Amino acid sequence: MADTEKKKEKDRLLEHSYDGIQEYDNPMPRWWVLTFWATIIFAGLYTLNFAGIGTGSGRIAAYEKEMAAFRAAHPSPAGLTSPEKLLALTKDGHEVSEGKKVFVKNCVPCHGPDGGGVIGPNLTDNAWIHGGKIQEINATITNGVLAKGMPQWGKILKPEEIDEVTTFVWSIYGTTPAKPKAPEGVVVAR
Ligand code: HEC
Repeated sequence: MADTEKKKEKDRLLEHSYDGIQEYDNPMPRWWVLTFWATIIFAGLYTLNFAGIGTGSGRIAAYEKEMAAFRAAHPSPAGLTSPEKLLALTKDGHEVSEGKKVFVKNCVPCHGPDGGGVIGPNLTDNAWIHGGKIQEINATITNGVLAKGMPQWGKILKPEEIDEVTTFVWSIYGTTPAKPKAPEGVVVAR
């Protein structure tokens, strides 16, 4: 071994020796150490951005923005009619009377002939278990509440029929059924 090489070897050797075993000082390469520190700094900055503390708008705002973009691109997700359209349909007498036919045929055993409620809740009061906004009523009818015995009408009725019966349910709000069931759920102002 050449002399210079021997010296280099000696420099790299650490001072201590355990039972005659010595070790080299083998630092990680510079590029590795820099990358390591860069990831730590990045993580710090990213946390600030991600949590909405620093410059970024935060994940909730980012989510809302993505959802708004999605809604704009797909006005009626999952085949549900938009609330604006449903509210317009409630003013259409023909729509509501068609809805009444759907109701009489399918809903009376559980909700009563006047919507006062039997097994299912009273649909004429202002208390709602699954939300009283028109699109929520539309969604409840479409998806049902299988665990509680409310069928998934989206699988049985046509989308138009669901919209019709939604307008009918909307129209009986505030009426006085013969045998009203006590309100269930949360009161929703209309
Ligand atoms: C087999 C019985 C049954 C039939 C038939 C039925 N429902 Fe229901 N419905 C229920 C039950 C039970 C609930 C309550 C679900 C719960 O407690 O979560 C319910 C809940 C609802 C709700 C939500 C009420 C709320 O407070 O949020 C609406 C709206 C509704 N039904 C509309 C309809 C319409 C419209 C039809 C006919 C197309 C219909 N239901 C037919 C049993 C039925």
